[in-house]
Amino acid sequence: MLLTEIDHVAIAVHDLDQAVAFYRSAFGATVAHREVVERDGVEEALLKVADSYIQLTTGTRDDSAITKFLAKRGEGIHHVGYRVDDCAAALEAMVAAGATPIDAEPRPGSRGTTVAFIHPKGAHGTLIELVQE
Ligand code: CO
Repeated sequence: MLLTEIDHVAIAVHDLDQAVAFYRSAFGATVAHREVVERDGVEEALLKVADSYIQLTTGTRDDSAITKFLAKRGEGIHHVGYRVDDCAAALEAMVAAGATPIDAEPRPGSRGTTVAFIHPKGAHGTLIELVQE
């Protein structure tokens, strides 16, 4: 079994501060990590839940995938991050199983992780992110 944990569930939101305040108000959740990822044109806030995270994320540029997603679909679940020990091996295994990679090779993600995305088409409609800490 290559998956070790659900790393995060990513939820696209219009207003990050407002969404963080909502989770704080409802659950007493606090932000464990917040980061602008320039490469992806996103800002994200990670709320820790046991050994996983809820990742609230919004776009910082018009051409970011999250901005486009919000315009097209509105707020909602954007992707699921599966934690793995070896991102390259998990990516290879997914491709061997017939999945279509978005990232041909693992690349840097937020909070110093190594990640690779898998296209929802060919993965039962779910955008999957493989996350190696
Ligand atoms: Co993610």
